Amino acid sequence: MPDNINEKNLKRVRFLESERLFLTPINEDDMDFHYFWDHERETQALDGGTHRPQNYENYKKEYYKDVYNNKKAMIFSIILKEDGTLIGIIVLFHISYFARTCDWGLKLDKPYRRRGIGREAARLLMEYVFEELGFVRLQSGTHHENTASIKLQESLGFVREGVFRKARLVNGEYLDSIHFAMLRDEYEKLYAQNRSR
Ligand SMILES: CC(C)(COP(=O)(O)OP(=O)(O)OC[C@H]1O[C@@H](n2cnc3c(N)ncnc32)[C@H](O)[C@@H]1OP(=O)(O)O)[C@@H](O)C(=O)NCCC(=O)NCCS
Repeated sequence: MPDNINEKNLKRVRFLESERLFLTPINEDDMDFHYFWDHERETQALDGGTHRPQNYENYKKEYYKDVYNNKKAMIFSIILKEDGTLIGIIVLFHISYFARTCDWGLKLDKPYRRRGIGREAARLLMEYVFEELGFVRLQSGTHHENTASIKLQESLGFVREGVFRKARLVNGEYLDSIHFAMLRDEYEKLYAQNRSR
């Protein structure tokens, strides 16, 4: 077997699975990946904007407190089925089990961007949110310079709902925050005949 196969990851639970990927709940072994991509400046600027740098130990502690034990969030690692590589993270957050709404976000390792993987992972999450959880609204936001994120959301059929002006600080500059959402009936019209799994 070639050495680049991550057998440990390939044995992880396949919570949601598509042609090239599976989503598995995040675990402690994934922490280095998340720590790196949360602090890499270019990705940080794309992913919401400037945030506080942390040392690794504090970061891990906060992750346990705020993420693992947070019932309003679900965090999945994205694993490539071909070799078990951890290539990204996809999250549901601000989950309201009463209103049946939530936000989502996604971040991929650089070499795996622009290969249709964002779209494939998002489709899995959308199916889960609308078809299994029966939620009515899935929403997301980015800043106006994140072309990849805007294109991804538009290509998935998310509707641009509004702009919060100068709401994000990115590399010392205030950028507008663009907000998208999809409602369940919009999802059904677009995807009912075309499941990703
Ligand atoms: C945003 C991100 C998740 C997109 O995922 P991806 O796998 O690169 O996107 P895909 O390859 O699935 O492409 C989806 C669509 O967006 C378009 N697209 C993707 N990246 C693009 C770019 N840099 N410029 C222009 N269009 C782009 C694709 O052409 C495709 O459009 P189509 O379906 O009409 O052909 C990825 O770029 C990423 O991880 N970026 C860094 C973190 C980040 O910005 N996260 C989002 C925070 S809100």
